[in-house]
Amino acid sequence: MQFLQWIVALLLIAGCSAGPQNVLLLLADDAGFESGAYLNKFCQTPNLDALAKRGLLFNNAFTSVSSCSPSRSQLLTGQAGHSSGMYGLHQGVHHFNVLPETGSLPNLIRDLSGGRILSGIIGKKHVGAANNFRFDFEQTEEQHSINQIGRNITRMKEYARQFLKQAKDEKKPFFLMVGFHDPHRCGHITPQFGEFCERWGSGEEGMGSIPDWKPIYYDWHNLDVPAWLPNTDVVRQELAAQYMTISRLDQGVGLMLKELEAAGVADQTLVIYTSDNGPPFPGGRTNLYEHGIRSPLIISSPNKKDRHHEATAAMVSLLDIYPSVLDALQIPQPNDTKIVGRSILPVLREEPPIKESDSVFGSHSYHEVTMAYPMRMVRNRRYKLIHNINYWADFPIDQDFYTSPTFQQILNATLEKQTLPCIVPCCSTTSDPMGAVRH
Ligand SMILES: *[C@@H]1O[C@H](CO)[C@@H](O)[C@H](O)[C@H]1NC(C)=O
Ligand SMILES: *[C@@H]1O[C@H](CO)[C@@H](O)[C@H](O)[C@H]1NC(C)=O
Ligand SMILES: *[C@@H]1O[C@H](CO)[C@@H](O)[C@H](O)[C@H]1NC(C)=O
Repeated sequence: MQFLQWIVALLLIAGCSAGPQNVLLLLADDAGFESGAYLNKFCQTPNLDALAKRGLLFNNAFTSVSSCSPSRSQLLTGQAGHSSGMYGLHQGVHHFNVLPETGSLPNLIRDLSGGRILSGIIGKKHVGAANNFRFDFEQTEEQHSINQIGRNITRMKEYARQFLKQAKDEKKPFFLMVGFHDPHRCGHITPQFGEFCERWGSGEEGMGSIPDWKPIYYDWHNLDVPAWLPNTDVVRQELAAQYMTISRLDQGVGLMLKELEAAGVADQTLVIYTSDNGPPFPGGRTNLYEHGIRSPLIISSPNKKDRHHEATAAMVSLLDIYPSVLDALQIPQPNDTKIVGRSILPVLREEPPIKESDSVFGSHSYHEVTMAYPMRMVRNRRYKLIHNINYWADFPIDQDFYTSPTFQQILNATLEKQTLPCIVPCCSTTSDPMGAVRH
């Protein structure tokens, strides 16, 4: 009898140690591959680079939509925008929300775990309606100014500490989403802080300071301009400003990881870093072109046996994040044909074979509410098809990109029938037409 009890106890212990992992989802706002981990030589991101060393770096990750709210709702509902109803940027006036019955990670986690797992969000949320996305712990732009909660990494760190303490006190595993607002543009709203709010909190006169941020100033003369952008001083200055905010984001990532350590949960927490959509430069955000949909994705697993300091060629979609989070939390996926992704966790253990059928899908409907421009996409490893459903319409340009110096310069040159200097002549092809990132 005693022997049996002992066995049962052993099994229980074994069961516990293989129990649910916590999940920390770190989300950048409009970031692309501006990091050392993705071989950018200029932008300094020691914390993201260290995360990549501890984890798996994805070279073929794609968002299904290149727009903030539809992308965030894809992460939280597992559904493409046309399916969840989050067609464009969430706002109240035009009732831009998900469809009323749509489920989400925080709601599902609470319901299926019976409140046993704690959910939290710190930083940018930008999805709705509130009832469809009810986190147990919320510190977002709904309670704070977006810069304070999304760019002030000291503030964000303080809330993360508070959340982790609550999880510890209540002895609950957790799902925490941290939505950085960097490196989003802000020149159209608060130009006094710079095009990307890179000066805000820098300690310069009138900018306030962010105690945990050590601003890194980039010399725009020395930057390499990516091949798809005009090689002009205007573009270089924009890149220098963008990199400055990427470095703030990177230091924020470092602070969050330190908080995990301090709370003693780093070895039980799956860390995912990605971005909602590509950068706000030509061919980037709001497009289904490569620079709009290719996503940085780093996943660091606490399991010793999982892959570390490796890169993967697996083709994954950000629609796969939802089932991956449920997988890590050991919550069964709801039986819903609208949820199309698959858990990525097996890729952390073993590189999947490359198959002819590997493909990802895209679906874009709006960005701003006035920007109806429906597109659908399928992309495999060799080809990409974009179906512009309403192709006779003008392609709409969003506000913050329209007012940006980069776009204005292109616009001016176009109106004046001038060309801008490019590194790659427009009609030349490279050996790598998909512009694949290698590691
Ligand atoms: C950022 O937050 C910290 C801590 O709350 C505060 O002391 C600081 O003034 C804030 N920075 C800015 C620029 O508002
Ligand atoms: C899921 O739903 C389908 C269609 O309604 C049904 O056939 C199937 O048995 C369900 N599976 C589970 C596990 O509930
Ligand atoms: C574009 O042209 C306008 C009007 O001439 C000018 O004010 C503006 O500075 C130009 N912008 C850029 C980025 O060249």
